[in-house]
Amino acid sequence: MNDLLGYTGKNVVVTGAASGMGQAAAQLLVDCGASVYALDIADVSVPVTRALRVDMKDAASLDAAVQALPDEIYGLFNCAGVPSPPFAALDTVLINFSGLRYLTEALLPRMSDGSGIASIASTAGMGWKPNLAKVREFLALDNTLATAQQWLTQHTDAVPDGYGFSKQCIIVYTMSQAKPLAQRGIRINCIAPSPTDSAFMKTLKGEGQIPDEAVELFLPSNGRYATGQDMGEALVMLNSKLGGFISGNNLPVDFGYCAEVYMGQRDDLLGIS
Ligand SMILES: NC(=O)c1ccc[n+]([C@@H]2O[C@H](COP(=O)([O-])OP(=O)(O)OC[C@H]3O[C@@H](n4cnc5c(N)ncnc54)[C@H](O)[C@@H]3O)[C@@H](O)[C@H]2O)c1
Repeated sequence: MNDLLGYTGKNVVVTGAASGMGQAAAQLLVDCGASVYALDIADVSVPVTRALRVDMKDAASLDAAVQALPDEIYGLFNCAGVPSPPFAALDTVLINFSGLRYLTEALLPRMSDGSGIASIASTAGMGWKPNLAKVREFLALDNTLATAQQWLTQHTDAVPDGYGFSKQCIIVYTMSQAKPLAQRGIRINCIAPSPTDSAFMKTLKGEGQIPDEAVELFLPSNGRYATGQDMGEALVMLNSKLGGFISGNNLPVDFGYCAEVYMGQRDDLLGIS
């Protein structure tokens, strides 16, 4: 069979594989013949090669997982994440970005020409430009969770919204790593999903007490929530052979929501244009 996506027999790592977008990506990758290593704080139901329990904000658990992962990795899918509220801003940034960066840089020595990294950012992070100086200050820190935690504790005023900041960091990190990684033939991208029906969304609306109408302001004009599958497919495409010349992008996967904002066809509620 023509292995159009190029995953047959390749080792891939998926964080957040227990649920939602990460679960969908993990299942697609299993279906494509990859050896899937799933990292999550929760039980993973997809029949992966190996599931490892990690807490993305805990360096020791990430170190243990890295030790258990194979020596060669073709694709890294950074999907784990939480909303704030209800999660505290500090924990949200540690889980959504600092753990992602720590894991990514631990695995990069095992990646080579042709491999790729795909992460999940958010439209909530697309207002990164006015906040670039603060994001860069955070990214310039040593890549340890302890250092990140210390900086965040000292800059609570600068990071009132843990979620938006965590996603700004993913976008700026993705773009700033494209150059050094291109020199090794490795690609790095992220996606910005529109509201997606998942456990995350239920937590945001329930414990986070965000009303339906507030979320629905950000739905695309097709009027529907995305599914985890919609996002899993975009991630799997980006890291595949078909995305072989795509790097340094934050790809809106939103059925045109951002395009409408850029074209003045709807209000720019997130300051993205
Ligand atoms: N759902 C949306 O509307 C939406 C929109 C934009 C971006 N996102 C982002 O998409 C990503 C995936 O979210 P989803 O919608 O599939 O939600 P989800 O809740 O279904 O999946 C998130 C996964 O991350 C795991 N996880 C949470 N905390 C963890 C931790 N500390 N350590 C390890 N794993 C942990 C969960 O167990 C779960 O399997 C997140 O990064 C989220 O920020 C979601």
